[in-house]
Amino acid sequence: DLPPRVRIHEVGARDGLQNEQRTVPTEVKAEFIRRLAAAGLSTIEATSFVHPKWVPQLADAEELFPIVSELPVALPVLVPNERGLDRALALGVRRIAVFASATESFARANLNRTVDEALSMFEPVVRRAKDHKVHVRGYLSMCFGDPWEGPVPIHQVVRVSKALMDMGCDELSLGDTIGVATPGHVLDLLSELNEERVPTSAIGVHFHDTYGQALANTLAALQHGVTTVDASAGGLGGCPYAKSATGNLATEDLVWMLQGLGIDTGVDLERLTATSVWMAAHLDRPSPSRTVRALSHK
Ligand code: HMG
Ligand code: MG
Repeated sequence: DLPPRVRIHEVGARDGLQNEQRTVPTEVKAEFIRRLAAAGLSTIEATSFVHPKWVPQLADAEELFPIVSELPVALPVLVPNERGLDRALALGVRRIAVFASATESFARANLNRTVDEALSMFEPVVRRAKDHKVHVRGYLSMCFGDPWEGPVPIHQVVRVSKALMDMGCDELSLGDTIGVATPGHVLDLLSELNEERVPTSAIGVHFHDTYGQALANTLAALQHGVTTVDASAGGLGGCPYAKSATGNLATEDLVWMLQGLGIDTGVDLERLTATSVWMAAHLDRPSPSRTVRALSHK
Protein backbone atom coordinates (compact mmCIF):
# COMPACT_ATOMS: atom_id res chain seq x y z
CA ASP A 1 0.00 0.00 0.00
CA LEU A 2 1.20 3.46 -0.85
CA PRO A 3 0.41 6.64 1.12
CA PRO A 4 -2.11 9.07 -0.46
CA ARG A 5 0.11 12.04 0.30
CA VAL A 6 3.84 12.63 0.68
CA ARG A 7 5.50 15.62 2.34
CA ILE A 8 8.57 16.71 0.42
CA HIS A 9 11.33 18.23 2.55
CA GLU A 10 13.09 20.44 0.01
CA VAL A 11 16.84 20.74 0.67
CA GLY A 12 18.14 22.45 -2.49
CA ALA A 13 18.80 25.82 -0.89
CA ARG A 14 20.83 24.21 1.90
CA ASP A 15 22.19 20.78 0.93
CA GLY A 16 22.38 21.86 -2.72
CA LEU A 17 23.98 25.25 -2.42
CA GLN A 18 26.36 24.27 0.41
CA ASN A 19 28.17 22.08 -2.11
CA GLU A 20 28.47 24.60 -4.93
CA GLN A 21 31.99 25.82 -5.67
CA ARG A 22 30.82 29.36 -6.19
CA THR A 23 28.89 31.14 -3.49
CA VAL A 24 25.46 32.21 -4.65
CA PRO A 25 24.50 35.82 -3.82
CA THR A 26 22.05 36.17 -0.94
CA GLU A 27 19.35 37.76 -3.11
CA VAL A 28 19.54 34.86 -5.59
CA LYS A 29 19.14 32.38 -2.73
CA ALA A 30 16.12 34.33 -1.47
CA GLU A 31 14.58 34.35 -4.93
CA PHE A 32 15.23 30.60 -5.24
CA ILE A 33 13.38 29.99 -1.95
CA ARG A 34 10.49 32.27 -3.02
CA ARG A 35 10.16 30.38 -6.30
CA LEU A 36 10.28 27.01 -4.54
CA ALA A 37 7.47 28.19 -2.25
CA ALA A 38 5.49 29.46 -5.22
CA ALA A 39 5.88 26.03 -6.84
CA GLY A 40 4.05 24.51 -3.88
CA LEU A 41 6.85 23.18 -1.68
CA SER A 42 5.73 23.56 1.93
CA THR A 43 8.97 22.68 3.75
CA ILE A 44 12.04 24.44 2.42
CA GLU A 45 15.32 24.04 4.32
CA ALA A 46 16.72 27.54 4.11
CA THR A 47 20.30 27.60 5.38
CA SER A 48 22.69 26.52 8.16
CA PHE A 49 23.89 28.28 11.29
CA VAL A 50 27.21 26.45 11.24
CA HIS A 51 30.73 27.76 11.45
CA PRO A 52 31.21 30.06 8.43
CA LYS A 53 34.72 28.70 7.85
CA TRP A 54 33.34 25.16 7.54
CA VAL A 55 30.63 26.08 5.05
CA PRO A 56 31.42 29.50 3.54
CA GLN A 57 28.64 29.04 0.98
CA LEU A 58 26.07 29.54 3.75
CA ALA A 59 27.89 32.21 5.75
CA ASP A 60 25.12 34.70 4.91
CA ALA A 61 22.48 32.92 7.05
CA GLU A 62 21.87 36.07 9.15
CA GLU A 63 21.20 38.11 6.00
CA LEU A 64 19.16 35.47 4.19
CA PHE A 65 16.77 34.21 6.85
CA PRO A 66 14.99 37.52 7.62
CA ILE A 67 14.38 38.09 3.89
CA VAL A 68 12.43 34.83 3.52
CA SER A 69 11.04 34.35 7.02
CA GLU A 70 7.59 35.76 6.18
CA LEU A 71 6.92 33.18 3.45
CA PRO A 72 3.94 30.95 4.33
CA VAL A 73 6.08 27.79 4.45
CA ALA A 74 8.13 25.91 7.03
CA LEU A 75 11.77 27.04 6.86
CA PRO A 76 13.98 24.67 8.85
CA VAL A 77 17.66 25.48 9.32
CA LEU A 78 20.66 23.39 10.34
CA VAL A 79 22.13 24.02 13.78
CA PRO A 80 25.15 22.04 15.06
CA ASN A 81 25.59 23.47 18.54
CA GLU A 82 24.34 26.02 21.08
CA ARG A 83 26.14 28.83 19.29
CA GLY A 84 24.18 27.96 16.15
CA LEU A 85 20.95 27.71 18.13
CA ASP A 86 21.49 31.16 19.65
CA ARG A 87 21.97 32.61 16.17
CA ALA A 88 18.82 30.88 14.91
CA LEU A 89 16.62 31.79 17.88
CA ALA A 90 17.70 35.43 17.61
CA LEU A 91 16.08 35.48 14.16
CA GLY A 92 12.87 33.75 15.23
CA VAL A 93 13.59 30.38 13.61
CA ARG A 94 10.79 27.85 14.36
CA ARG A 95 12.36 24.65 13.02
CA ILE A 96 15.89 23.39 13.37
CA ALA A 97 17.81 20.29 12.41
CA VAL A 98 20.78 18.78 14.20
CA PHE A 99 22.93 16.41 12.16
CA ALA A 100 24.58 13.30 13.53
CA SER A 101 26.66 10.63 11.84
CA ALA A 102 26.38 6.86 11.98
CA THR A 103 30.15 6.58 11.46
CA GLU A 104 33.15 7.91 13.35
CA SER A 105 34.94 9.00 10.16
CA PHE A 106 32.16 11.30 9.03
CA ALA A 107 31.51 12.63 12.55
CA ARG A 108 35.14 13.70 12.60
CA ALA A 109 35.12 15.18 9.09
CA ASN A 110 31.80 16.99 9.41
CA LEU A 111 31.68 18.01 13.08
CA ASN A 112 35.21 17.62 14.41
CA ARG A 113 33.81 15.26 17.06
CA THR A 114 33.36 11.56 17.79
CA VAL A 115 29.84 10.22 17.27
CA ASP A 116 29.12 10.40 20.99
CA GLU A 117 30.74 13.82 21.44
CA ALA A 118 28.48 15.10 18.67
CA LEU A 119 25.44 13.63 20.43
CA SER A 120 26.50 15.38 23.65
CA MET A 121 26.84 18.61 21.68
CA PHE A 122 23.26 18.23 20.37
CA GLU A 123 21.66 17.40 23.72
CA PRO A 124 21.40 20.96 25.09
CA VAL A 125 20.49 22.20 21.60
CA VAL A 126 17.49 19.88 21.41
CA ARG A 127 16.48 20.56 25.00
CA ARG A 128 16.56 24.32 24.60
CA ALA A 129 14.81 24.14 21.22
CA LYS A 130 11.99 22.12 22.79
CA ASP A 131 11.74 24.70 25.60
CA HIS A 132 11.10 27.27 22.87
CA LYS A 133 8.57 24.97 21.16
CA VAL A 134 10.89 24.76 18.17
CA HIS A 135 10.46 21.68 15.97
CA VAL A 136 13.59 19.50 15.81
CA ARG A 137 14.66 17.20 13.00
CA GLY A 138 17.55 14.84 13.57
CA TYR A 139 19.57 14.05 10.49
CA LEU A 140 21.63 10.91 10.47
CA SER A 141 24.34 10.68 7.80
CA MET A 142 26.10 7.63 6.36
CA CYS A 143 23.23 5.26 7.17
CA PHE A 144 24.18 2.78 4.44
CA GLY A 145 27.78 3.28 3.43
CA ASP A 146 30.67 5.54 4.31
CA PRO A 147 33.48 6.65 1.96
CA TRP A 148 36.19 5.66 4.47
CA GLU A 149 34.56 2.77 6.32
CA GLY A 150 32.58 1.01 3.57
CA PRO A 151 29.23 -0.62 4.35
CA VAL A 152 27.73 0.57 7.65
CA PRO A 153 26.24 -2.09 9.96
CA ILE A 154 22.54 -1.58 10.69
CA HIS A 155 22.98 -1.87 14.47
CA GLN A 156 25.32 1.11 14.38
CA VAL A 157 22.68 3.19 12.56
CA VAL A 158 19.95 2.05 14.94
CA ARG A 159 21.98 3.03 18.01
CA VAL A 160 22.47 6.63 16.90
CA SER A 161 18.87 6.85 15.60
CA LYS A 162 17.57 5.86 19.01
CA ALA A 163 19.88 8.35 20.72
CA LEU A 164 18.49 11.16 18.54
CA MET A 165 14.88 10.14 19.22
CA ASP A 166 15.49 9.68 22.96
CA MET A 167 17.00 13.16 23.03
CA GLY A 168 13.65 14.54 21.88
CA CYS A 169 13.94 14.91 18.11
CA ASP A 170 10.50 15.16 16.49
CA GLU A 171 11.65 13.46 13.32
CA LEU A 172 14.59 11.48 12.00
CA SER A 173 15.98 11.78 8.48
CA LEU A 174 17.96 8.77 7.32
CA GLY A 175 20.75 9.97 5.03
CA ASP A 176 22.35 7.93 2.30
CA THR A 177 25.00 10.60 2.05
CA ILE A 178 27.06 8.94 -0.71
CA GLY A 179 24.16 7.30 -2.52
CA VAL A 180 25.13 3.64 -2.18
CA ALA A 181 21.88 2.25 -0.72
CA THR A 182 19.69 -0.26 -2.52
CA PRO A 183 16.02 -1.03 -1.74
CA GLY A 184 16.56 -4.24 0.25
CA HIS A 185 19.01 -2.47 2.54
CA VAL A 186 16.50 0.37 3.03
CA LEU A 187 13.75 -2.06 4.03
CA ASP A 188 16.09 -3.92 6.40
CA LEU A 189 17.01 -0.68 8.15
CA LEU A 190 13.39 0.53 8.42
CA SER A 191 12.27 -2.83 9.84
CA GLU A 192 15.09 -2.88 12.37
CA LEU A 193 14.24 0.66 13.48
CA ASN A 194 10.60 -0.38 13.98
CA GLU A 195 11.77 -3.37 16.02
CA GLU A 196 13.61 -0.92 18.24
CA ARG A 197 10.45 1.21 18.56
CA VAL A 198 11.37 4.03 16.21
CA PRO A 199 8.01 4.53 14.45
CA THR A 200 7.84 4.89 10.68
CA SER A 201 5.72 8.03 11.14
CA ALA A 202 8.78 9.80 12.59
CA ILE A 203 11.10 8.75 9.77
CA GLY A 204 12.06 10.64 6.63
CA VAL A 205 14.41 9.40 3.92
CA HIS A 206 17.25 11.37 2.36
CA PHE A 207 18.67 9.69 -0.70
CA HIS A 208 21.47 10.71 -3.02
CA ASP A 209 21.43 9.50 -6.61
CA THR A 210 25.09 8.54 -7.11
CA TYR A 211 24.29 5.02 -8.33
CA GLY A 212 20.87 5.87 -9.78
CA GLN A 213 19.06 4.16 -6.89
CA ALA A 214 17.38 7.12 -5.20
CA LEU A 215 13.90 6.61 -6.69
CA ALA A 216 13.96 2.83 -6.22
CA ASN A 217 14.96 3.37 -2.61
CA THR A 218 12.23 5.97 -2.17
CA LEU A 219 9.57 3.64 -3.55
CA ALA A 220 10.67 0.90 -1.14
CA ALA A 221 10.44 3.36 1.76
CA LEU A 222 6.95 4.51 0.68
CA GLN A 223 5.80 0.90 0.50
CA HIS A 224 7.03 0.52 4.06
CA GLY A 225 4.88 3.51 5.10
CA VAL A 226 7.31 6.43 5.03
CA THR A 227 5.59 9.71 4.05
CA THR A 228 8.42 12.26 4.37
CA VAL A 229 10.95 12.38 1.54
CA ASP A 230 13.89 14.77 1.22
CA ALA A 231 14.75 16.02 -2.23
CA SER A 232 16.69 18.83 -3.88
CA ALA A 233 15.31 20.97 -6.70
CA GLY A 234 17.14 20.20 -9.92
CA GLY A 235 19.23 17.56 -8.11
CA LEU A 236 21.57 20.22 -6.72
CA GLY A 237 24.28 19.16 -4.34
CA GLY A 238 26.78 16.43 -3.81
CA CYS A 239 29.02 15.36 -1.01
CA PRO A 240 32.36 17.14 -0.56
CA TYR A 241 33.82 13.98 0.97
CA ALA A 242 33.05 11.61 -1.88
CA LYS A 243 34.15 12.82 -5.28
CA SER A 244 31.92 10.50 -7.27
CA ALA A 245 28.81 11.32 -5.29
CA THR A 246 26.27 13.18 -7.36
CA GLY A 247 23.48 15.25 -5.95
CA ASN A 248 20.47 14.54 -3.83
CA LEU A 249 17.43 12.93 -5.36
CA ALA A 250 16.02 15.62 -7.67
CA THR A 251 12.68 16.97 -6.50
CA GLU A 252 11.38 16.95 -10.08
CA ASP A 253 12.24 13.25 -10.52
CA LEU A 254 10.46 12.51 -7.25
CA VAL A 255 7.37 14.53 -8.17
CA TRP A 256 7.19 12.84 -11.60
CA MET A 257 7.14 9.41 -9.95
CA LEU A 258 4.65 10.43 -7.25
CA GLN A 259 2.30 12.03 -9.79
CA GLY A 260 2.37 8.82 -11.81
CA LEU A 261 1.44 6.90 -8.66
CA GLY A 262 -1.42 9.28 -7.91
CA ILE A 263 0.26 10.52 -4.73
CA ASP A 264 -0.43 14.13 -3.79
CA THR A 265 2.52 16.46 -3.10
CA GLY A 266 1.01 19.90 -3.68
CA VAL A 267 3.86 20.69 -6.08
CA ASP A 268 3.38 22.32 -9.48
CA LEU A 269 5.96 20.43 -11.56
CA GLU A 270 6.08 23.00 -14.35
CA ARG A 271 6.85 25.88 -12.00
CA LEU A 272 9.38 23.79 -10.13
CA THR A 273 11.18 22.81 -13.33
CA ALA A 274 11.26 26.44 -14.45
CA THR A 275 12.83 27.30 -11.08
CA SER A 276 15.57 24.70 -11.52
CA VAL A 277 16.28 25.86 -15.07
CA TRP A 278 16.56 29.42 -13.73
CA MET A 279 18.93 28.27 -10.94
CA ALA A 280 21.01 26.20 -13.38
CA ALA A 281 21.55 29.36 -15.44
CA HIS A 282 22.85 31.13 -12.32
CA LEU A 283 25.18 28.25 -11.55
CA ASP A 284 26.22 28.06 -15.19
CA ARG A 285 25.71 24.33 -15.54
CA PRO A 286 22.76 22.18 -16.56
CA SER A 287 20.61 20.43 -13.97
CA PRO A 288 21.47 16.74 -13.63
CA SER A 289 17.77 15.90 -13.12
CA ARG A 290 16.39 13.68 -15.89
CA THR A 291 12.93 15.15 -15.41
CA VAL A 292 14.19 18.73 -15.61
CA ARG A 293 16.02 17.89 -18.83
CA ALA A 294 13.06 16.09 -20.35
CA LEU A 295 10.52 18.76 -19.47
CA SER A 296 12.71 21.71 -20.45
CA HIS A 297 13.57 20.27 -23.88
CA LYS A 298 10.04 19.46 -24.88
P1 HMG B 1 34.97 23.28 15.77
O1 HMG B 1 36.08 23.85 14.97
O2 HMG B 1 35.23 22.04 16.57
O3 HMG B 1 34.34 24.42 16.64
O4 HMG B 1 33.78 23.01 14.77
P2 HMG B 1 34.48 24.78 18.19
O5 HMG B 1 33.28 24.31 18.89
O6 HMG B 1 35.83 24.32 18.67
O7 HMG B 1 34.50 26.37 18.09
C1 HMG B 1 35.54 27.05 17.41
C2 HMG B 1 35.10 28.47 17.06
O8 HMG B 1 34.00 28.42 16.16
C3 HMG B 1 34.65 29.29 18.23
O9 HMG B 1 35.07 30.63 17.98
C4 HMG B 1 33.14 29.23 18.15
O10 HMG B 1 32.48 30.34 18.71
C5 HMG B 1 32.92 29.20 16.67
P3 HMG B 1 36.32 31.24 18.75
O11 HMG B 1 35.93 31.17 20.19
O12 HMG B 1 37.48 30.34 18.40
O13 HMG B 1 36.40 32.60 18.18
N1 HMG B 1 31.66 28.53 16.34
C6 HMG B 1 30.65 29.03 15.59
N2 HMG B 1 30.50 30.19 14.94
C7 HMG B 1 29.34 30.39 14.32
N3 HMG B 1 28.34 29.50 14.31
C8 HMG B 1 28.45 28.33 14.93
C9 HMG B 1 29.66 28.07 15.61
N4 HMG B 1 30.08 27.01 16.33
C10 HMG B 1 31.30 27.30 16.78
N5 HMG B 1 27.44 27.44 14.91
C11 HMG B 1 31.43 22.80 14.34
C12 HMG B 1 32.59 22.38 15.21
C13 HMG B 1 30.27 21.90 14.63
C14 HMG B 1 31.09 24.25 14.65
C15 HMG B 1 31.88 22.70 12.86
O14 HMG B 1 32.38 21.44 12.64
C16 HMG B 1 30.76 22.97 11.86
O15 HMG B 1 30.27 24.09 11.75
N6 HMG B 1 30.37 21.95 11.11
C17 HMG B 1 29.28 22.06 10.14
C18 HMG B 1 29.51 21.17 8.95
C19 HMG B 1 28.31 21.21 8.03
O16 HMG B 1 27.52 22.16 7.99
N7 HMG B 1 28.17 20.16 7.19
C20 HMG B 1 27.12 20.05 6.24
C21 HMG B 1 25.80 19.64 6.85
S1 HMG B 1 25.61 17.89 7.12
C22 HMG B 1 25.03 17.29 5.61
O17 HMG B 1 25.02 18.00 4.64
C23 HMG B 1 24.43 15.91 5.56
C24 HMG B 1 22.93 15.92 5.37
O18 HMG B 1 22.58 16.57 4.14
C25 HMG B 1 22.38 14.49 5.34
C26 HMG B 1 23.16 13.56 4.44
O19 HMG B 1 23.14 13.68 3.20
O20 HMG B 1 23.84 12.70 5.03
C27 HMG B 1 22.24 16.68 6.49
MG1 MG C 1 22.54 15.44 1.96
